[in-house]
Amino acid sequence: MKSTRILFVCLGNICRSPMAEGVLGHLAEKRGLSGRVDVDSAGTGSWHSGEAPDQRSVNVARRHGIDISGLAARKILPGDFSDFDLILAMDRSNLRDLARIAPPDGQADLHLFWTFATGQAQDVADPYYDDEAAFEAVYTMLLEGCDKVLDRLEDGERSRRGNTSSVI
Ligand code: 4NP
Repeated sequence: MKSTRILFVCLGNICRSPMAEGVLGHLAEKRGLSGRVDVDSAGTGSWHSGEAPDQRSVNVARRHGIDISGLAARKILPGDFSDFDLILAMDRSNLRDLARIAPPDGQADLHLFWTFATGQAQDVADPYYDDEAAFEAVYTMLLEGCDKVLDRLEDGERSRRGNTSSVI
């Protein structure tokens, strides 16, 4: 079965989106969906390209049994809009930036993460200038949202098998 390719995007690709990548991958593994989801993350900015995730993200993820220490930040590329099925922006500013740079022939579906997951427009707020409690709050949101993203993915597959329309 073809896997769904999901790209999480934030500003720096060192705080929120690598944590989202780790959380979704972890939850997919727990559900036995690892082979059906490809997940990656990127930033709209390049200031931190090549760097490991922020230590506070690494710490929070590790406390929840997820190792994101080996990830490296990268800037989003034009080809990502064709290489991924779904691009999920962490906040509305990221979403606006993505909409501005999306190539006209890009076929990825572009959404605000929280809207895609829950139907409600809300940002995963940038924790960079905040304390570790803010990173923990980001984790909590990502856990809930990623669980719902996987629900949608599984519902979509069930619909496809039943030959009705699906979201993903
Ligand atoms: P992120 O957080 O977008 O969640 O990775 C940030 C990381 C770095 C900066 C801002 C936000 N920065 O200004 O360098």
